Amino acid sequence: MPNISIAIDGPAGAGKSTIAKLVSKSMGIIYLDTGAMYRTVALKAIREGIDTLDREKLSSLVRDIDIKISYDGEEQRIFLEGEDVSGKIRTPQISIGASNVATIPEVRIKMVELQREIAAQNSVVMDGRDIGTYVLPNANLKIFLTASTEERAARRYKEQLEKGVKDISLEDVKKDIEYRDKNDSSRSFAPLSKADDAIELDTTNLTIEQVAEIIMKYAGELK
Ligand code: DC
Repeated sequence: MPNISIAIDGPAGAGKSTIAKLVSKSMGIIYLDTGAMYRTVALKAIREGIDTLDREKLSSLVRDIDIKISYDGEEQRIFLEGEDVSGKIRTPQISIGASNVATIPEVRIKMVELQREIAAQNSVVMDGRDIGTYVLPNANLKIFLTASTEERAARRYKEQLEKGVKDISLEDVKKDIEYRDKNDSSRSFAPLSKADDAIELDTTNLTIEQVAEIIMKYAGELK
């Protein structure tokens, strides 16, 4: 059977990764979190003291960057030059940095190359911002998840509290989300947008189980 690909796009906090994990698990295929790649580029830039919007420096930083993905069971691990940075890329500073580096065409071209390579070799559920529109325009199923800014901020805030992060406020989380929404949607190269043939689902008033049930119905039809 040829490889299948499922694209799940949408803004931060819309529920993409939770749903992508459920779908990949139930279908027995891999899940690729493409945001982790941009986060890893941002981590490297910040470690090297590079402004995450400096196109020239970022272009040269990604030219021969060594990013590898592996799977620990179903869990994706991401490695920067051999170091497992999966936990280190989940901070508010890296979220903003990732959104910044993701506006740079040279960074995107490099990341998309890696993403397409993985999709060429595996059946995959990929989540991101431009998967249905740019990375995998021929994906077998395209989903675009949305939710109100307030709801997305509340979800992210809860996640941070559960992780034990104390020095943040709901207002800060909301501001970060608004900054990223604007940055991700307004960039000129492969911005966050819904593909014409994507199924759009507003998750504001739905539970994860309800969203999963709707999407699994579509995914089940691919088998
Ligand atoms: O999904 P995430 O929050 O981990 O993504 C972090 C940032 O990376 C996001 O604000 C925009 C960027 N990104 C992107 O531009 N394209 C993708 N396919 C995935 C993420």
